[in-house]
Amino acid sequence: MSVKHILDQRRSVRHYDPNHEISPEVLTSLIESASKSPNGNNIQATRYLIVDEPRLRKSLLPIAYNQAQVVEASALIVMLGDYQAFDANNIMDIHEQAFQAGYMDQALRDYLADAAINYYAPKSKEELKLELIRDISLASMSLILLANEAGYETITMSGYDSAQLKEALQIPKRYEDIMLIAIGKGLKPGHGTVRHEVSKVIYRNEIV
Ligand SMILES: Cc1cc2nc3c(=O)[nH]c(=O)nc-3n(C[C@H](O)[C@H](O)[C@H](O)COP(=O)(O)O)c2cc1C
Repeated sequence: MSVKHILDQRRSVRHYDPNHEISPEVLTSLIESASKSPNGNNIQATRYLIVDEPRLRKSLLPIAYNQAQVVEASALIVMLGDYQAFDANNIMDIHEQAFQAGYMDQALRDYLADAAINYYAPKSKEELKLELIRDISLASMSLILLANEAGYETITMSGYDSAQLKEALQIPKRYEDIMLIAIGKGLKPGHGTVRHEVSKVIYRNEIV
């Protein structure tokens, strides 16, 4: 199935077969591929918190405004950004690994690691949050495409109370929750949606 075909057919699905299970191996494989998404300076800040404990899933229902997919989908993943990824140690480790793997020489390792450290160092928390939103959003879309390719339906959710979700799942402060993704076998197709005419969303050289 081509990416174009998936994008043309995909719908946000809100009703799932609660009895369908996705094996941990399949989920791991989808996440492994999603983790190959582009990400700033390859600092790899995306974390995938799989919530598969039924009691926890139920506790998230009111936090996510009673959206049934929270409990009915086969998998519920909290897409997180890890602020610790901006630490110099992480950045140096990743570039050292790339050097050890033979992907770059010492000069490039040091140049790229220094550039990344200096890029993030002066940024405010708000600016770092934007960096996380960029990276985690790209990984999220990859996961959605991969899940659709594997024959599942998905829905992205920002309709939940972030503070309550963090408390219910005891998510430490170093993580930013970016969105929820539910994956499963749809029971009811998602309703159709419209998109602007493409000419309405394209500008050339200037916004008019
Ligand atoms: C960041 C984001 C958050 C969303 N949150 C919710 C949500 O909480 N509940 C919901 O039913 N749909 C949610 N959606 C799904 C959108 O409503 C949906 O993508 C949009 O209406 C277009 O429909 P389609 O995905 O079927 O093409 C969200 C989508 C995105 C990208």
